[in-house]
Amino acid sequence: MNTVTGKTALVTGASSGIGQEIAKLLAKDGYNLVLVARSDDTLERLSEVFKGNYDTQQITIIKKDLSEEDAAQDVYNQVKAKGITVNVLVNDAGVGLYGLFGTDTDWEREKAMIHLNVLALTQMTKLFLYDMLIRNEGKILNLASLLSITPSPLMAVYAGTKAYVYNFTQSLINELKDTNVTITALLPNATDTDFFNKAGAQNTKITDELQDPVMVAKDGYEALMAGKPKVIPGGLKNKSYEVLAYVAPQEALASLMHDKMLQKPEPDAEQEKKTTLAWGIGFGLAVVTGIAIGIAYKNANALDRARYRYKAKSAGNSISDALSSVVDAVVDAYQNTKTKAEHLVSKGEDKAVDLEAEVAA
Ligand SMILES: NC(=O)c1ccc[n+]([C@@H]2O[C@H](COP(=O)([O-])OP(=O)(O)OC[C@H]3O[C@@H](n4cnc5c(N)ncnc54)[C@H](OP(=O)(O)O)[C@@H]3O)[C@@H](O)[C@H]2O)c1
Repeated sequence: MNTVTGKTALVTGASSGIGQEIAKLLAKDGYNLVLVARSDDTLERLSEVFKGNYDTQQITIIKKDLSEEDAAQDVYNQVKAKGITVNVLVNDAGVGLYGLFGTDTDWEREKAMIHLNVLALTQMTKLFLYDMLIRNEGKILNLASLLSITPSPLMAVYAGTKAYVYNFTQSLINELKDTNVTITALLPNATDTDFFNKAGAQNTKITDELQDPVMVAKDGYEALMAGKPKVIPGGLKNKSYEVLAYVAPQEALASLMHDKMLQKPEPDAEQEKKTTLAWGIGFGLAVVTGIAIGIAYKNANALDRARYRYKAKSAGNSISDALSSVVDAVVDAYQNTKTKAEHLVSKGEDKAVDLEAEVAA
């Protein structure tokens, strides 16, 4: 443990996910903490755990909805009123929102998201950076995303907010280069937190490739402490996304991301029912035919028995053939419907068709 005494780190979004993991690392290193989020009960429990397990001793909880007007100013005022000097600022709090911008998503949620992801982060940075520059020391970590550098259909506003965070942070790096204040952008790929559930994107294909928030926080924390301009956690695979983002045309990137943001295909319940029914009927036919042949076979002479053996074989073959035709037909129908559905969704035409119908009505 690398114990720091007398320094304070303020973490927004400390109640869950990446923010909570970063707060834990700061606590382990002995930072005093100011933890900010709306779930103050979670923050209180976290505070007890940190104090019980790590070197951190002073933990201040600030319950705040950072999507409200001037929320950052209020947090800053509370910190100043308590006489706390913030040496490390982690702007982690952020949310996403899933859906087609033109027709699906709710403006009030989008407005709150822009407020939280952009305005609160900018105002927090402005207020605490000024004090850091007066002291000529301090470190800031801003939560950007790999979506900061790629378009992201179906999460368009979120990706826009993260592009802002990244660009804003990179500009400040240049402004701060002759000072002892550093600012770092953390660009995680999709990470296994509550983020996708809250955004309404829990069933999207991208959730099949989530990375560990502990790893993301560790990489972010190390880059913050080293004063690096940016960090992309997750090794070569995620770094290659960065290279791709710089060389591939925006349209191709948008298509790639659109595909990852699509809902995972769900098994068609109706078709599944039909397949089960087909198997049931086939099995029933096989049993009834088998019993009938068995009774006749028992009562027959040798020649008839030979005939029955032959008929039983052909009947079995016919039933099996018929059954496979039914199953093939069912599978074909399922595949066709699935392909058509995927095609429509991928083109975003399902909504367009609905809308046209509505306009025409
Ligand atoms: N998970 C990913 O795939 C991913 C990828 C790239 C970047 N990121 C970014 O990483 C950051 C953390 O996200 P996460 O994945 O750790 O998600 P998370 O587990 O949902 O955590 C989000 C945190 O933000 C806080 N928060 C949300 N709305 C708030 C509000 N109005 N006021 C104050 N605090 C608020 C939440 O606390 P309360 O609900 O208690 O307020 C929570 O502590 C976000 O900026 C996100 O954009 C995430």
